[in-house]
Amino acid sequence: APVQVKKICCIGAGYVGGPTCAVIALKCPHITVTIVDLNQARVDAWNSKDFDLPIYEPGLVDVVKQARGRNLFFSTDVDKAIREADLIFVSVNTPTKKSGVGAGFAADLNYVESATRRIAAVATSDKIVVEKSTVPCRTAESMRTILEANSKPGTHFDILSNPEFLAEGTAITDLFSPDRVLIGSLQTESGQNASQALAAVYANWIPKERILTVGLWSSELSKLAANAMLAQRISSVNALSAICEATGANIDEVAHAVGFDSRIGPKFLRASVGFGGSCFQKDILNLVYLSESLHLPQVAAYWRQVVEMNEYQKSRFSKTVVDTLFNTITGKHIAVLGFAFKADTGDTRESASISLIRDFLSERAYVTIYDPKVEVAQIWQDLQEACPTTPLAQIQKYVNIVHSAAEACEQKEAIVIATEWKEFLDIDWQHVYDLMTKPAFVFDGRLLLDAEKLTKIGFTVKTIGRGGRV
Ligand code: UDX
Ligand code: UDX
Ligand code: ADP
Repeated sequence: APVQVKKICCIGAGYVGGPTCAVIALKCPHITVTIVDLNQARVDAWNSKDFDLPIYEPGLVDVVKQARGRNLFFSTDVDKAIREADLIFVSVNTPTKKSGVGAGFAADLNYVESATRRIAAVATSDKIVVEKSTVPCRTAESMRTILEANSKPGTHFDILSNPEFLAEGTAITDLFSPDRVLIGSLQTESGQNASQALAAVYANWIPKERILTVGLWSSELSKLAANAMLAQRISSVNALSAICEATGANIDEVAHAVGFDSRIGPKFLRASVGFGGSCFQKDILNLVYLSESLHLPQVAAYWRQVVEMNEYQKSRFSKTVVDTLFNTITGKHIAVLGFAFKADTGDTRESASISLIRDFLSERAYVTIYDPKVEVAQIWQDLQEACPTTPLAQIQKYVNIVHSAAEACEQKEAIVIATEWKEFLDIDWQHVYDLMTKPAFVFDGRLLLDAEKLTKIGFTVKTIGRGGRV
């Protein structure tokens, strides 16, 4: 029969493990949840008295306030938490490999492997080990092999795949009422019991019909597939936005009309300067790598095009800025509003903003950046990584980071919206316009602003997916 889970350990206190297991603790007061991480500073931040948490996520502080110290704990004592737990989430980072076989495509499974080896080394009782990080298909199988080869006599491990579908910025509401929870297991008696044990944890707040139990490999592939298909919708709508700009059609109208077809649906059809985030690109590149490893080159090429379209969209937008500013931005002053990969997060991984600013800097433009949530140090780090051959001091000669949108917009030749932060709607555009060199340009990469209103003030507005002057 399925065990009753009383103690959960989560290895990895990042964007996935932190919010997910904090919500489990909140919803399951009878389960003790310990989230562990090797990174002392990160754990300290999770434990900080004034709830200065290491990640920004709407609603997260409330959750941690309610559960921390009650049945939710953060610690660097990985071994102790492993030893005591019945169920262990492995929720460590799986970045794209930077060198070696599969560099640029395959996932770096180093962190997963060392966490798995740690579990095998210290566990003295049976464990359910849950793969929570996004990983390529068949990782669970490798984890199982490592655990079995290293387990002590009498300890039994069951492996589950339980991919996370939360989106940053809405993580807490996504976790409170997910569209579905997916649990993959081996179709053995022991595997199915483990699957039921985890399902029972989620059943504390999620309707049973939304908890899907499937095979191990279907579960792993579903995560890659869901992200690939979501990203594909954005690349599709972005490809159409290029046609709109060239023809005078309006991407808002097209997306609206297309999305009305119930077979297509209205969500995730918002044209943009390009998708970012830690998942989409990484997961598609994983799918590409997997397809190639399986000798399916046509399948690989199909998915690779989704990422190529995204690269094209980003460079197309920076080219629009240069072209519009009379074919040169050298020495011109550009405000970039937004640095995060989407609104309501401080996360900058793969943010389109980084590519835009890199392009502007390569033209030797002066760039002023404002983002309400991204740390200044993070911006410098990202720009240094984007321009590896330029010394930071040189980058800093051209880049200025400020603390309000109003300050960023002062006396610029062009203003670029790179992230759809709501507060950009409250900018005093008449005031901004009065101070700008004329003609004054606004480039909206997020379909955020009221272009008609700005045009009335006098701006020249270029919006993704809208032909000519609005
Ligand atoms: C994504 C998936 O949505 C989530 O299910 C998975 O678990 C992790 O990856 P996330 O990357 O956090 O989540 O955010 P998401 O809302 O999906 O946005 C990703 C990127 O696509 C952002 O840059 C966003 O601005 C962009 N986007 C999204 C668009 O450009 N247009 C859209 O219509 C939707
Ligand atoms: C299509 C559009 O659906 C319709 O809106 C448009 O006006 C005309 O083109 P139709 O070609 O008649 O309609 O049939 P549809 O049901 O869309 O099927 C097209 C093809 O796709 C068929 O061969 C069908 O078997 C296939 N298909 C459809 C799949 O292989 N899988 C699916 O999930 C759906
Ligand atoms: P994600 O977005 O997938 O959650 P993050 O990078 O935000 O990724 O978080 C992953 C966390 O996992 C990091 O804080 C990292 O320090 C932690 N981590 C990686 N390997 C181990 C390990 N072997 N033991 C404990 N924590 C680990």
